[in-house]
Amino acid sequence: MSALLETRGLGKKFRGLTANADIDFAIAPRSIHCVIGPNGAGKTTFLSMVSGHLPPSEGRIFYQGRDITRLSTVRRARAGIARKFQTPSVFPGLSTRTNIELAALRGAGSKRERARRIDEVLETIGLAALQETPANHLSHGQRQWLEIGMLIAMQAQVLLLDEPAAGMTAGETEATTDLLQSLVDTHGVSIIVIEHNMDFIKRLSAQITVLHLGQVIAEGSFDEIAANPQVADVYLGNHA
Ligand SMILES: Nc1ncnc2c1ncn2[C@@H]1O[C@H](COP(=O)(O)OP(=O)(O)O)[C@@H](O)[C@H]1O
Ligand SMILES: [Mg+2]
Repeated sequence: MSALLETRGLGKKFRGLTANADIDFAIAPRSIHCVIGPNGAGKTTFLSMVSGHLPPSEGRIFYQGRDITRLSTVRRARAGIARKFQTPSVFPGLSTRTNIELAALRGAGSKRERARRIDEVLETIGLAALQETPANHLSHGQRQWLEIGMLIAMQAQVLLLDEPAAGMTAGETEATTDLLQSLVDTHGVSIIVIEHNMDFIKRLSAQITVLHLGQVIAEGSFDEIAANPQVADVYLGNHA
């Protein structure tokens, strides 16, 4: 298997603070990869380097075999790497459908192909019945799905999600794991997802990377991670 996206020796220093150090990471095509770790572990910093919002202090990032370490955020997005931020970026007064339409304009294809893609996305994110509803009338969870739908509408190949289930109800959280899996199955995307919620991570059955103090301390399936004593230490706060 060759990786779709890969980092080698990726590191980030903020003045004296090492936020990420020597991160070797790889995500396969058509897969979900979770990044977990306690607060301040360096998860968001890692995602920001992959999306191009932060320049690495060291190391390299490869996408489809190409070195993208110095590529701008805009060019990365055009190449298919798209990030959803924790703060919403939908147009609140516009309808759900219009939000998806605007995102679709950033993708390729004829008008007809785009219209088909818009319908498909609304169906996938479970908001077809609410397509005329203004985005600010959607529930918190529905707005998150709308944003994920916008990434699909703009034909992203790699979705970067920073705590997509934060603030969601248990039901919404469950629906979100199903949504992510269906995006992989039906749209063939890959997803790097940072998440705190252990139920979410368990349901996904994805590959997991654990960060602690900016470094990778474990990698594996949920069961492997759950059985790892060092991971338990970090989560129970038994470290110095
Ligand atoms: N822009 C920044 N300037 C200085 N320090 C930062 C900046 N962003 C993050 N940090 C620090 O880097 C470390 C990792 O932060 P972050 O990547 O946000 O962790 P996480 O997302 O895992 O909670 C923290 O100690 C944080 O305070
Ligand atoms: Mg964070």
